[in-house]
Amino acid sequence: MIRPVDTNLEYLETERLTLRRFTADDADLLIELDSDPAVMRFLSGGEATAPETVRERHLPSILAGYARWDGDLGLFAAYEKDGGAFAGWFCLRPEPDGPRDEAELGYRLRQASWGRGYATEGSRALLHKGFTELGMRMVWAETMTVNRGSRNVMEKLGMTLTGTLPTPADMARVEGSEHGGVRYEITRSAWERR
Ligand SMILES: CC(C)(COP(=O)(O)OP(=O)(O)OC[C@H]1O[C@@H](n2cnc3c(N)ncnc32)[C@H](O)[C@@H]1OP(=O)(O)O)[C@@H](O)C(=O)NCCC(=O)NCCS
Repeated sequence: MIRPVDTNLEYLETERLTLRRFTADDADLLIELDSDPAVMRFLSGGEATAPETVRERHLPSILAGYARWDGDLGLFAAYEKDGGAFAGWFCLRPEPDGPRDEAELGYRLRQASWGRGYATEGSRALLHKGFTELGMRMVWAETMTVNRGSRNVMEKLGMTLTGTLPTPADMARVEGSEHGGVRYEITRSAWERR
């Protein structure tokens, strides 16, 4: 899936990735990403997200987020610069009713894009933008205790393990859910000292 660059949608550029805002036409990208059992392993236990859930809930909520946070925060589509393939998404997103200077970092990449440092590269750039341009005070990230890949990204970013989390009821059947989840944080001052 190669897409021409629309400059109005551009959000962030890294050495190897371009991040842009999603549009109402992007349901298929999200549906395809969430249809890979390996991608969904630690999210749903491998089950695909229903296309109508993407169309009726996820995508509208992403677009509403741009309105809420002036296009500065939310979920962003990532493309590989070399070849233009859709790589997945990253997010830097406050709680809907939470303080705007505290945001969750997240990432979900297509399997074809794993193992090349993209999650770390995109997240590093998001932390930089968040702390230098967007007035972030703190960024957090959460994952399942057993999601080693995701935790490695958080640790490479210099985030600190700050707590453990109970497994949400709807994730009880996911492999490793008995080990619960973990939360990592990084404050602006810790990021500046890193
Ligand atoms: C987790 C995920 C984002 C990692 O993306 P990635 O681009 O492959 O990660 P990176 O290449 O930046 O890897 C960062 C570090 O973690 C390691 N790593 C990545 N995936 C790993 C895995 N499955 N197991 C162990 N280590 C892993 C890398 O080797 C690298 O460490 P290194 O530099 O010391 O070699 C990707 O596998 C993914 O999207 N998975 C499905 C969705 C998901 O689980 N998202 C997180 C939900 S909280």
